Amino acid sequence: MWENDINVKEVKEIRTKTTAYVGAGAIEKFYDISKELSQKGLNKVVILTGRAAYKKTGAWDVVEKALKENNIEYVLYDKITPNPEHKDVDEAVELGKNFGAKAVIGIGGGSPIDSAKSVAILLEYSDKTAAELYELKFAPEKAAPVIAINLTHGTGTEVNRFAVVSIPEKEYKPAIAYDCIYPLYAIDDPALMTTLPEFQTMSVSVDAVNHVFEACTSVAANPFSILLAKETVRLVHKYLPKALKDPKDIEARYYLAYASMIAGTSFDNGLLHFTHALEHPLSAVKTDLTHGYGLGILLPAVIKQVFEARKDTILDIFAPIYGEGNENMTADEAGEKMREWLKSVGLTQTLRDEGFSEADLDKLTELAFTTPSLDGLLGAAPIEATRENVRTIYAESL
Ligand SMILES: [Fe+2]
Repeated sequence: MWENDINVKEVKEIRTKTTAYVGAGAIEKFYDISKELSQKGLNKVVILTGRAAYKKTGAWDVVEKALKENNIEYVLYDKITPNPEHKDVDEAVELGKNFGAKAVIGIGGGSPIDSAKSVAILLEYSDKTAAELYELKFAPEKAAPVIAINLTHGTGTEVNRFAVVSIPEKEYKPAIAYDCIYPLYAIDDPALMTTLPEFQTMSVSVDAVNHVFEACTSVAANPFSILLAKETVRLVHKYLPKALKDPKDIEARYYLAYASMIAGTSFDNGLLHFTHALEHPLSAVKTDLTHGYGLGILLPAVIKQVFEARKDTILDIFAPIYGEGNENMTADEAGEKMREWLKSVGLTQTLRDEGFSEADLDKLTELAFTTPSLDGLLGAAPIEATRENVRTIYAESL
């Protein structure tokens, strides 16, 4: 395989719409990025991150030093949690605004990076709130520059125009997609991902698999989203078991980071549909549910629903999981084989195990249709999204 000819310790520049630095040691590129920010007069930044990972991974040592060397002043907002909330974004905007921040840096997984994108918009629209942004009350056309330092290998947000923030009091977890929030630069450094615990390692890679499954079976799917999907599945199937066995396997982390990045570009092209539209209500209602894990619970039932509409694509991209010679596979078998693979990487729970029951089905179905933006995802599904088939997917995932 071509992977054998790649030196994972050599940092390469990969251009999507964002310029991404990929490879062990890519964090060092932050010196060049800081220099450029400084030269552009972007000498005050607000940094969004979670409580611990930015320090534990070693990212902060480099970031802080590079900012100081280039005379860039910063304020740090380190209270971003998984499933980030609109009030935290508003708090960070206030901090950044009072400081005079001209650019935003997100350090962490999807939550800090998506929050950074949201802050970047709201710095330009200072009379608006994060709730207004996520309830689609306005459509932003400008944002402060965003730098994404990615510490997990799942969301792909470091290279695309999507962001997700929750409005818990309404049980909404909407997604936005605007051209103005493509990060200017992204860093995917697998050496910063070796401390990611086993549960997160699995959940974030399952997120990437769902991104490409949806991006290549939606009504917006294109040959490019399908190409990236095939490669994502091949790499995750090959390297996720290795990373689970040895978290410090830098080659495995490299290919999982690369797979997640190209998956981010795949769904930037092909969009998302059922799995994401149905997972968002789950983690909006139970905020401790991990996004990728919730997607994995739903995936077998979603495959079953859309199998006949996209059979050739599904058999093609999931060939590493399904094996060759499965032309006569049924929808039920396709769902079941996916469930078996998910179990093999440690995803064994069901919705019931996560605290949901039959009594929640109507509410979850309603939220999938009424949460701002999720109707757009449902509209991209390859079959008509009715309340009946959405409910069936939830019911089969219990
Ligand atoms: Fe996702």
